Amino acid sequence: AIAKDPRYVFVRGDINDRALVESLLRQHKPRAIVHFAAESHVDRSIYGPGDFVQTNIVGTFNLLEAARAYLGESTAAAREQFRFLHVSTDEVYGSLAADSPPATEAFPYAPSSPYSASKAAADHLVRAYCCTYGFPAIITNCSNNYGPRQFPEKLIPLVTLNALAGKPLPVYGDGLNIRDWLYVTDHCEALRVVLARGRIGETYNIGGNSEKTNLDVVKTICATLDELRPNPLIPHHSSPITHYSSLITFVKDRPGHDRRYALDASKIRDQLGWQPHARFESGIRETVAWYLAQGDWVAGIMSGEYRKWVEKQYGVRD
Ligand code: DAU
Repeated sequence: AIAKDPRYVFVRGDINDRALVESLLRQHKPRAIVHFAAESHVDRSIYGPGDFVQTNIVGTFNLLEAARAYLGESTAAAREQFRFLHVSTDEVYGSLAADSPPATEAFPYAPSSPYSASKAAADHLVRAYCCTYGFPAIITNCSNNYGPRQFPEKLIPLVTLNALAGKPLPVYGDGLNIRDWLYVTDHCEALRVVLARGRIGETYNIGGNSEKTNLDVVKTICATLDELRPNPLIPHHSSPITHYSSLITFVKDRPGHDRRYALDASKIRDQLGWQPHARFESGIRETVAWYLAQGDWVAGIMSGEYRKWVEKQYGVRD
């Protein structure tokens, strides 16, 4: 939708390519960097932690250094205005007990996967740059995002697309792990608010106010599909599927699987006036409906590298 907007430029590059990052900063003179670039999938980090160290830790370091050099060459007015918004995760706080209050920004860090450890390390670097160099950064820690266009390695699109193909819906362990689900547009809105009004050196939690067990999430997707795409005829199945939930399959648990994440997002609500709007049931409905309508997009990303990942992931698990 924005491809023709003159304010938009897409450059495909690596945040570890310092020369490229520095030349882009010089060329475009941005007022802010919103740092989303990360290896983000926990299962992938278990198979290959090296990429997570490289992108999430070393890549963040490179971006910080490039931005610091850029600010050094900028005018005082530009320096004053500039913000580096580092987008992080609730996983840095580690697994919460069932009766623990949600994590505030003051919670100690206790990451358990190579992914969350790499994000925690990056957060520490960003914080250190604020303290040491007066670098104008702000950190946000969000809960589980969902919505249209999410890559189907993540639970919600994976389950939706597997169900439509009549494939098993893999639920790790007992399915009772809890995540707090944040609709993607709510997250984007929160980031805009933080960019506009957040205070340098501060951290803001961004949560969805929607704690669910994985089994609840998968069942909600199945019920939504029962309604939107009932009784599908699936190739290689002898009879139509009457309830998508019949495809639910419990599989071996993820190693080091965090039991519960939950965020206390009252700071961003009280100080910056943001809170999530989406209700989980309507968010899921919009998401599932989007995947139902986007055959071409799905076909495009389900080939190539993604197929290799699924084979690796399920090959090992089988
Ligand atoms: O909490 C925020 C984090 O949410 C982000 O920082 C991560 O980048 C993002 O990947 C996500 O991490 P999770 O590990 O929670 O997301 P994922 O979609 O992989 O899994 C959600 C839950 O569902 C988790 O408890 C594992 C479970 N799961 C996942 C998959 C892929 C299954 O039961 N079966 C599956 O096949």
